[in-house]
Amino acid sequence: MHVTVVGSGYVGLVAGACLAETGNDVVCVDNDAEKIARLTQNEVPIYEPGLEPMVQRNQAEGRLSFTTDLGDAVRRSKVVFIAVGTPPGEDGSADLSHVLAVAGAIGRHMNEPKVVVTKSTVPVGTAEKVRAAVSAETTTPFWVCANPEFLKEGAAIDDFMRPDRVIVGVDSDDARELMEELYAPFTRQGGNRIIVMDIASAEVTKYAANAMLATRISFMNQIANFCEQVGADVSQVRLGIGSDQRIGRAFLYPGPGYGGSCFPKDVKALIRTASNLGVRLDLLEAVETVNERQKRVLLEKTLRFLGSDLHGKTVGLWGLAFKAETDDMRESPAIPLVCGLLDAGARVQAHDPKAVDSARTIFGDRVLYAADPYSAVHGADALVIVTEWLQYRNPDFPRLRQLLRRPLLIDGRNLYEPDRLTAMGFEYHGIGRRKP
Ligand SMILES: NC(=O)c1ccc[n+]([C@@H]2O[C@H](COP(=O)([O-])OP(=O)(O)OC[C@H]3O[C@@H](n4cnc5c(N)ncnc54)[C@H](O)[C@@H]3O)[C@@H](O)[C@H]2O)c1
Repeated sequence: MHVTVVGSGYVGLVAGACLAETGNDVVCVDNDAEKIARLTQNEVPIYEPGLEPMVQRNQAEGRLSFTTDLGDAVRRSKVVFIAVGTPPGEDGSADLSHVLAVAGAIGRHMNEPKVVVTKSTVPVGTAEKVRAAVSAETTTPFWVCANPEFLKEGAAIDDFMRPDRVIVGVDSDDARELMEELYAPFTRQGGNRIIVMDIASAEVTKYAANAMLATRISFMNQIANFCEQVGADVSQVRLGIGSDQRIGRAFLYPGPGYGGSCFPKDVKALIRTASNLGVRLDLLEAVETVNERQKRVLLEKTLRFLGSDLHGKTVGLWGLAFKAETDDMRESPAIPLVCGLLDAGARVQAHDPKAVDSARTIFGDRVLYAADPYSAVHGADALVIVTEWLQYRNPDFPRLRQLLRRPLLIDGRNLYEPDRLTAMGFEYHGIGRRKP
């Protein structure tokens, strides 16, 4: 099938590459000419495991191409995905200007009936706005479809190739049939996991899923902070509650607060959509408040142990990305931590395997970017772990102990066992862990 994906970021690029991988003829469009030039040269501007070879292979085999020319791509395609950004507006609502601009442009190039698919995360009612924006530019019939994306950065290829489910919101058989054909190769194994529903329900499903996941995180973070106060260990509590099938084990890890390009903005946008309709989602307001507070926990712990004036003090950081296996720094808990440490006068030495380029656009040269994890702790008064990269899980502890000026280890991801670290001479503090 001939497919266009507009927006070649984390979602559009992964969707485009995976759709090409299953034999479709895919054109990825972006209005960032530099990004398109790099992609045309097989240079993938983001880090996502497995993405670069997939882009290279499909481009070499002629199924995947990149362009800034939206018109040409749209005219050639039967299905056009909109996968541009929907950043938060000033009031927290999703900014739809990119989505609707693209919809209008698609309308101007509508030469035969096509499906226009919203893959960006968009508030309920957006597919109707897309329909109106396209209709304003063309008399050619077309169909709309809401097909929200559920991939996780860091595992995006796997999630797209083997999705838990594919949500397809449609109001026509033509759109449903085309979407089922397109997604059949991804859902063949493990039963048919395409869930077809009405458009509004599909739009709400995406926000409800992210709101639920954010709620689990804020819930566990509050329980962790409570555990710290009462001498309990949240890791034990997590095992205890996760074994209840109604709760489940996944996504119950406390940490430095959720970040990334989705949860913070989607929770805010859902609250805003609801409040515009006179509905108060106060549970989610609390989820957000807890998260804002949690994002300060690593800084507060550091200041508590090192003092509030950090002039002359050095803090080593392991991890800057908002989670492992991505270079994405959007809303990363590292941002308030680094800013707070710098404001308090600290010298910050940070290591991240993939996110240094992104970090440089935020912190510039105010942070020393270490080439390896051990250089980041050299002469430091504390090591703070922000991101759960695999390579931090089993470090050379004696070497770490020796390199640190003070063996203070603040573990924002609970990677280590408090008893073991204490026995090795560290002052160890996790999130919600019992003191040895
Ligand atoms: N990143 C994720 O993990 C994830 C997961 C699921 C859903 N989403 C949603 O998918 C959407 C895209 O997210 P992302 O992380 O890929 O964003 P991104 O910022 O990485 O990519 C968006 C791309 O769209 C391009 N763009 C913007 N306006 C354009 C226009 N008018 N014409 C052509 N290209 C244009 C930008 O240049 C950019 O390359 C958002 O709505 C997001 O909420 C993201």
